[in-house]
Amino acid sequence: MQDYMIEETAQANADKLLGYLYNAASKNYIGECVSQIAHACQCAHFAKELNHGIDVEIASLLHDIGHYCNDVSEPQMAGLGVINHEWIGARKALEMGLNLEVAILIGEHVNAKRYLAATKTGYYERLSPASKETLGFQGGKMSKAEQVAYQSHALFKKILQVRVNDEKGKVENLETVTPAHYREAIANQIRTNLKKQAIDFPKQIYFVRHAQANSQQPNAGLTEKGAKDAIDLIDLLDDIIGSPVDLILSSPFMRALKTIDPYAKAQNKLVIPDYRLREFHPCDFRNSNYANHERKSFYNSSYKLDKDSHTLFKVQQFVMSLINDVKASVLNNYIVVTHGRWLSALYKIIDKNISFNVIKNLSRPAILKLTIYQERLALEVLYSGGPCRTRTCDQRIMSPLL
Ligand SMILES: [Fe+2]
Repeated sequence: MQDYMIEETAQANADKLLGYLYNAASKNYIGECVSQIAHACQCAHFAKELNHGIDVEIASLLHDIGHYCNDVSEPQMAGLGVINHEWIGARKALEMGLNLEVAILIGEHVNAKRYLAATKTGYYERLSPASKETLGFQGGKMSKAEQVAYQSHALFKKILQVRVNDEKGKVENLETVTPAHYREAIANQIRTNLKKQAIDFPKQIYFVRHAQANSQQPNAGLTEKGAKDAIDLIDLLDDIIGSPVDLILSSPFMRALKTIDPYAKAQNKLVIPDYRLREFHPCDFRNSNYANHERKSFYNSSYKLDKDSHTLFKVQQFVMSLINDVKASVLNNYIVVTHGRWLSALYKIIDKNISFNVIKNLSRPAILKLTIYQERLALEVLYSGGPCRTRTCDQRIMSPLL
């Protein structure tokens, strides 16, 4: 990547990150007495005052961008903000070129609250009513076993620093620097990272369909066979991909997380949960006629049985949101763990005439590779119960359908 392109990307991405804050200038910090932008600046202000270091300052400034940086509607915590906003923000930080450490500090600011609520006397009582209510959506106070594991996190001290700054940054009329104060520090971090690893088209997403699970419930684990297949994925993905990918994203459903967990541990890689990748059903998954509704929704993208279900068209919006993010990202290679219907939505974007049986016959787990060229997508099935290779291309990336 040439120097002027690195410079342009660093400046543009710094502006984009700060732009999320400026766009949120008028938004209330849900249930609190300050605006989102004032809260962000105050958190960075306290990090600076206590010499927490530049990574903690930047993470404190950006820790809540997940509430307002995504282009698709995200599930909400009963009007108190976006579920999983911490990891949406972490992903955005990495895709814009910030340090992994900054991304982890952003991603962990909710777990830090769960830790402190369980361990620090009076912490829970001092939380604002809104923060107490969101804690319920975020998993509640940490268990004893979780606390012990958390204390050995390599960034434990800095994670707690960001959280404490977060609690403090709710002061009415406190004078602080503006986000623009951090523009050069952010651009500099992106510049440094781009010099180590340039943006490289075509980009690759290795999609992993989750292994066999006990049920369709979001918290259902893997069967014995599924767990064994997940372990086999360590070598299988290694053989197929070769060098490690830049980022692993997964559906937040247990069966998806459990599928990639052994590989991620073996590669010492972070797995970021992404709600856009969850299972979307065309009807209640307990419906005795589920297979028929699924087939019907495959051939009629606007079909769904009831108002709480999702059309294939809706899932395709999440697919395109992911693809657009990868295109705009400084990262080149991803593993994305998701579900069968999600992959069928992707397949139909590439090939509108594809048969439903192609998707139905994919094994659990299966591995597909999406190659993203500047103006074209290509999809290959690389593994479905055994090695295979079928390739489909679409010349009209970003089709008018969406
Ligand atoms: Fe916050």
